[in-house]
Amino acid sequence: MDELLLAWFRANGRDLPWRRTRDPYAILVSEVMLQQTQVERVVPRWHAWLDRWPTVDSLASASPADVIREWQGLGYNRRALNLHGAATHAAAHGWPADLTELPGVGPYTAAAVASFAFGLPVLPVDTNVARVQERTGHAFGSACGQALMDLGATICLARVPRCGKCPLVGGCPSRGRRYEPSRKQSRFEGSFRQRRAAALRAVSEAARPLAELDAEAVAALERDGLVCLVDGLVSLPA
Ligand code: ADE
Repeated sequence: MDELLLAWFRANGRDLPWRRTRDPYAILVSEVMLQQTQVERVVPRWHAWLDRWPTVDSLASASPADVIREWQGLGYNRRALNLHGAATHAAAHGWPADLTELPGVGPYTAAAVASFAFGLPVLPVDTNVARVQERTGHAFGSACGQALMDLGATICLARVPRCGKCPLVGGCPSRGRRYEPSRKQSRFEGSFRQRRAAALRAVSEAARPLAELDAEAVAALERDGLVCLVDGLVSLPA
């Protein structure tokens, strides 16, 4: 089954820019961006990020304020601070053997960097990979990570899989099945997340008096270390 999948991937895999490097830093940036943001939106932002901070050391030397500003629009802004923290750690101590020691790096992201950058024999299991494993009932080998991600993203879709185009249809016990709509990411419009984003955007342009801002949103941003409140003035962390 692995061979069928890998042959399909060689012919149909997506040409994504982070697949052309084995630099752990560049791959970590891609994986953190991809945690909650779609591939098409990540591609240009990944290039911009690496143009600005091409190495771990350059990111470690950046100010949190600049890092937060560069992240603007990708959402879930704590990821920016975590990435900065991870770069700071790697610049000072090198890459830890256990990558989950880095802030914002859970078992999935650690496995992705270990596999795609360091070539270690681990299979990163994200939602797409888990879905394909579950439907096929097959335990794929560690060489199948990127291929499974692409199969899950383009063929083995969550609700209406394109079994007619699937290289694994022959041995798949789930072929032809349809699935209920699953939980979507919660609505952004009218959410607290939107209020936080608006407050952070305002503060990113210039320090602002708390009185001009959404105080609840600012309090949440402050708890996450995304803004500082000093003498009634809210600013990005220096
Ligand atoms: N989603 C998470 N990691 C990915 C990767 N390396 N390629 C494509 N989609 C992904």
